[in-house]
Amino acid sequence: MSEPLLPIAEAGSKDTVGKQCRIRGWVYRTRSSGGLAFVVVRDASGIIQVTARKQVLGDEAYAKFSSALIESSVEVTGEVAEDRRAPGGYELRATTALVHAPAEPFPIFSGQTDEFLLDKRHLSIRSSEIVATLKVKAEILHSARAYLDEHKYLEMTPPILTGNAAEGGSEAFTFEYFGREAYLSQTAQLYLEALIYPLERVYSITPSFRAEKSRTNRHLTEYTHLEVESAWTGLKENLELQEGLIAHICHEVATRRPRELEALGRKPEEMLAITAPFERIRYEEALERLKTLGHPLEFGQDLGTNEERALTAERKQPLFVTNYPAEIKAFYMLRNAGDSRLVDGNDMLAPEGYGEIIGASCRETDIEVLKARLEKQGAKMENYDWYLDLRRYGSVPHSGFGLGVERVVRWICKREHIRDTTPFPRTPSRVTP
Ligand code: 4AD
Ligand code: MG
Repeated sequence: MSEPLLPIAEAGSKDTVGKQCRIRGWVYRTRSSGGLAFVVVRDASGIIQVTARKQVLGDEAYAKFSSALIESSVEVTGEVAEDRRAPGGYELRATTALVHAPAEPFPIFSGQTDEFLLDKRHLSIRSSEIVATLKVKAEILHSARAYLDEHKYLEMTPPILTGNAAEGGSEAFTFEYFGREAYLSQTAQLYLEALIYPLERVYSITPSFRAEKSRTNRHLTEYTHLEVESAWTGLKENLELQEGLIAHICHEVATRRPRELEALGRKPEEMLAITAPFERIRYEEALERLKTLGHPLEFGQDLGTNEERALTAERKQPLFVTNYPAEIKAFYMLRNAGDSRLVDGNDMLAPEGYGEIIGASCRETDIEVLKARLEKQGAKMENYDWYLDLRRYGSVPHSGFGLGVERVVRWICKREHIRDTTPFPRTPSRVTP
C-alpha cells in the first residue's frame, strides 16, 4: 500500500479531499445494508466515517469488514470526500479494507454501573470522556515542566521507598524492607530540600501515597505529586511561583486542547481568564468569611471539604489561604515571625468549589525547633537525623510547595470524582486492574 498513512484527524480535512490516503484504527460504530457499509473508525486523533461497497472491496473483504464488531482493529485505504452527513463532514471511500484483529462483543456499553466500568477500566479508558481528560492531563504535565524549565528549575528523581513518613505517620503505607520498616513516599519534599543546597531550584513529579481510608471525591491513595523547592525564597516568592505556574498551565491547556475542554463542558475562555495575582487571605480572615457563609469554625480547626467549597463556590479565580495555625500543619513549616501560633505557609484553593490543589510553606530552619516538634509528634528521631544535617551545614531560608496533579485535572476538566482524572485509580477499595 503506497498511499500515505495519516492520523484520522488529518485524513478528514479540506486539504485531503479527492486524494488517496491510508488510515488505521478501531471500529467505533458500524451499520450496513445490502452491499453498503458505514463504519466509523477511531484512532488517537479522532474519528472518520469509512464508506465501504461490496462492489469495490469484493465479497470476502466486504463481508469481513462490514461484520467486524466494534473495537476490531482495521486498516483502510481510499479517497477522501466531503459528506455533510458524516461525523466531522468527511468520509473515506474505501478501496481496500483490512481487519487486523476482529474483536469479541465489547463488554462496555451505555447504562452500566460505575463499579462495573471500574472493574473493566482497562477497556473503559477508551471512552471519549476519559480520552479527552487524559489528553488535557498530559498537557498540564507538559506545560508545568515547560514553565519550571523556563524559570531555571531542574527536574529531580527522588526515591519512592523511604524511611521517613514526612506528612504524619498515620497516613503512610508501611512495608517491610529487608527486615526494617519503610514507607511509600507521601512527599518528595525532604529530598528536594537536600537538593537545593547544590542546585538551588528543583522540582519533581512522582507518585505520592496516602493511606487515607476516607472515601471522598478528591482523595486517591496514589496520586501524581508535582513538588517544587527553592533556596533563598520566602512566602512572597513562593506564592508568586504558584500563581505563575497555575496561570501558565491554564492558558496552555486552553490554547492547545480547546476541543477536549469543550467536550468535557469546560469553556476554554474560563481558563484563559485565570490571571495572577490571585487573591490572598489569611486563615483568620477565612474563618470570618466562613462565619458569614454559615460554616463557623473555631481557631485551630482545619478547613475541610465543605469549608473549602463554601469559600470558593462562587469564585472564578483561585484563592490563597495563608498563615494557618501551626498545630494543624506539618512539623517542617516555618513559624510566622509576628504571631508564633501561625505558620508562613499557604494552600491554594481552586475556584467553583473544587478546593485545595496546592499545599505550600516556608521551611523551619532552626534545628532546635525542628527537633522539639519531631519529638512532640513521637517521630523516630534516628530517621530524621539526615534531615537535621540540612540545618547543620549552611542552612538557608527556603520554601516550596506540592501540587496534586489529579486535583488540578479535576478542576480544569470539571470532573465530579478524582478517579476520573487518572487511568487506573487507586482508592481504599480498589487496587486492580
Ligand atoms: O498538602 P500536602 O499534604 O503537602 C505536602 O505533601 C507537602 N510536603 C508538599 C510540599 O510542600 N512539597 O499535599 C500537597 C497536595 C495537596 O494540596 C493536594 O493537591 C494533593 O497534594 N493531595 C492529594 N491528591 C489526591 N489524593 C490525595 N489523597 C491527596 N493528598 C494530597
Ligand atoms: Mg494539604
